[in-house]
Amino acid sequence: MPLKNQTEKNGQVQALFSAYNIIQKKRDGKKLSKEEINWFIQGILTGETADYQMASWLMAVYLKGMSVDETAWLTDAMLYSGEVLQFEGNDVVDKHSTGGVGDKTSFILAPIAKACGVKVPMMAGRGLGHTGGTVDKIECIPGFKTELSMQEFKQQVLKYGLVLIGQTQTLAPADKKIYGLRDVTATIESIPLITSSIMSKKLAEGAHGIVMDVKTGDGAFMKKTSEAKKLAQSLRFTASRFNRKMITFITDMSQPLGNAIGHTTEIIESIETLKGKGPKDLTEISLRLAAAMVFLAGKAKNQKEAYQLCHKALYSGAALEEFRQMVIRQGGDISTIDNLDKLPMAQEKTVVTSVHSGFVRGIKGTLTGLACVSLGGGRTKSTDKIDMGVGFLFHKKIGDQVKKNDPLITIFHHASQKSLVQKITRDFQQNIFQFSTSKIPRPKLILETKMTKGKK
Ligand code: URA
Repeated sequence: MPLKNQTEKNGQVQALFSAYNIIQKKRDGKKLSKEEINWFIQGILTGETADYQMASWLMAVYLKGMSVDETAWLTDAMLYSGEVLQFEGNDVVDKHSTGGVGDKTSFILAPIAKACGVKVPMMAGRGLGHTGGTVDKIECIPGFKTELSMQEFKQQVLKYGLVLIGQTQTLAPADKKIYGLRDVTATIESIPLITSSIMSKKLAEGAHGIVMDVKTGDGAFMKKTSEAKKLAQSLRFTASRFNRKMITFITDMSQPLGNAIGHTTEIIESIETLKGKGPKDLTEISLRLAAAMVFLAGKAKNQKEAYQLCHKALYSGAALEEFRQMVIRQGGDISTIDNLDKLPMAQEKTVVTSVHSGFVRGIKGTLTGLACVSLGGGRTKSTDKIDMGVGFLFHKKIGDQVKKNDPLITIFHHASQKSLVQKITRDFQQNIFQFSTSKIPRPKLILETKMTKGKK
């Protein structure tokens, strides 16, 4: 009898698929079938597709692209390489950000959305490179547990409506393997590969609706707005194919979001924001994204009405209470929320002053993130341990007027890091902050919002 990858023709057993042919077809810019993609992707877990074949295919996809169909089939193959959750109803809504420096909106918008009746299944990532990870940041609260199985996660979403954990081992394992290969073969920046990677994980969580925050600018993955728009469109197309509602936002990352960069300092800023005392940009983006979630969950007639509900949830203290309850349920030390000084912060502070006068024209986000990594506040390889207490607090942002000797940022560091701090100080003064002699407008926070209702 022929095996799974074989067929019989004129009494001869022939292979249905071959990795060689699949690579060759993509190399020559041809369209692959659903079956070919599925076989090739499953093969990375069974060993039928070798790592070097996958790497070569990834480069072919990077160079030749994929159609909407192929992207959906690739998503499907990666999605069903692991466990997939399903929820009844239509009120389970998640948010995903393509990542940026100082992006801490999840800690704010998830409790706001929950306070407005949305069930929020937050399965977040860890940081690598210049951007931090949501799961690492929340772990600065002593005791906070971020590991659950998929089934435990589902039960807690149903029971409590708000759970924040790291990715489980059984979530889209093919993506994990493929992402590792993309990372070392210069094939990360491909729209179909990014789309299928993000969507396979989001779809596996079982959310009925997804809010996508695609960041653009120096501190983001997609440096150009035109690329961010293409990614947002590809994400919406794929959401539609899987019958999911999606609202995509293109948001500004021409400077870090909020004022705090670093793990503990970002959690402190998030809690301050939940107390209604957050920076304007962070508060506004969190409210807009939360409102999109509330609308997708069917809890408001439109996004304007949803925004009003979210505003009330934030400024009445209801969202802060949801955050507190989540910390208690997940084993975090709640006394740190009431007394933020108990969170792990580095003890030394150095204020960086300006050597220029003028108006802030730009703040290089990638270099800011890398400066934080150099202090120990990030990973350069996945096994690195993070120092939660180091980071920065910005005193000036784009559009602000600055006089010579005005404070630009405060660095949180350890006493042993004096020479590194001197280097970082010079970087901020001469390179990261950019100045103009004429007035500069503040950047627009939200550059585009689009929606798909999820019809096939
Ligand atoms: N985030 C992901 O999960 N996958 C990508 O490919 C890029 C960003």
